[in-house]
Amino acid sequence: MQSAVKKAIFPVGGLGTRFLPVTKSSPKEMLPVIDKPLIQYAVEEARAAGIEQFIFVTGRGKSAIEDFFDYSYELNAELQKRGKTKDLEIINDLLMAPGQISYIRQQEPLGLGHAVWCARHLIGDEPFAVLLADDLIQSQTPCLKQMVDAYKNKSSGHMVAVQEVPLEETRHYGVLEIDTISKPLLKAKGIVEKPEPHTAPSQMAVIGRYILDPSVFGVLESQAKGVGGEIQLTDALAKGLTDCSSPMALHGFLFEGTRFDCGTRQGLLRATVAFALAREDLKDEMLLILKDYQLHS
Ligand code: UTP
Repeated sequence: MQSAVKKAIFPVGGLGTRFLPVTKSSPKEMLPVIDKPLIQYAVEEARAAGIEQFIFVTGRGKSAIEDFFDYSYELNAELQKRGKTKDLEIINDLLMAPGQISYIRQQEPLGLGHAVWCARHLIGDEPFAVLLADDLIQSQTPCLKQMVDAYKNKSSGHMVAVQEVPLEETRHYGVLEIDTISKPLLKAKGIVEKPEPHTAPSQMAVIGRYILDPSVFGVLESQAKGVGGEIQLTDALAKGLTDCSSPMALHGFLFEGTRFDCGTRQGLLRATVAFALAREDLKDEMLLILKDYQLHS
């Protein structure tokens, strides 16, 4: 039986170049899907999975994220003065207990593996979650909760969320080499970062939700740069699998839900439509909009 997962890392130190120009002065993780920034969806998902410590790995130009989760004295006072109780509730919901959120600075965006490694002293010696806010997942049960439950009961080592992708898309993902399948778990015997379709070991692609054993920090410590000149988390997981002193198992978890890649323009647009259609207050309006544009195209 694994110990409970209580800490989560939110790597938000990337440059977000695929979303220029907006990301020139505004963090990608603050892009909204309707009225909430991507990072809020990720934090809410983590809370629903029982996470108690929220660790953000930030970088230059990311202070909007810190302000977003902070107490805004002026706004609170103004809303109170105007009697805007509903709005007050919305912003107060974002607040966490003092000490529940920490921020670590990744001085240079050297890659996801490096970002995770930056948080090593705050994690210590316990399993932890990693959530990439640009992977937005719409599901009955929040994706991380599904994983935490599965991790508690069945697994050991590392667990990564996976979904099957078309063969021509493997070059955008970390991809598992499958050993055995016992759905929703896939035992991996290898993992490769961004393989070309003809070398991809499977079509099971890693999505931005991880539960990691702290042994990954030891591997990341000496991890060389990989694809794209970045220190890749995928490479550290691959090395962990074959470490002769203490090999670390790796499982893929086939989650229930639809994932939107909000690190791309198309993904963010799709997410906006899907999330609006799922909201009672916006569904009818969104259907009208879609019909209207279909008529005129
Ligand atoms: P991406 O691979 O999407 O990179 O990172 P990016 O820099 O954000 O975006 P593009 O490719 O330039 O458009 C996935 C997640 O990992 C974080 C990002 O902030 C994002 O949440 N990340 C990436 C870091 O925290 N540090 C890094 O060095 C790289």
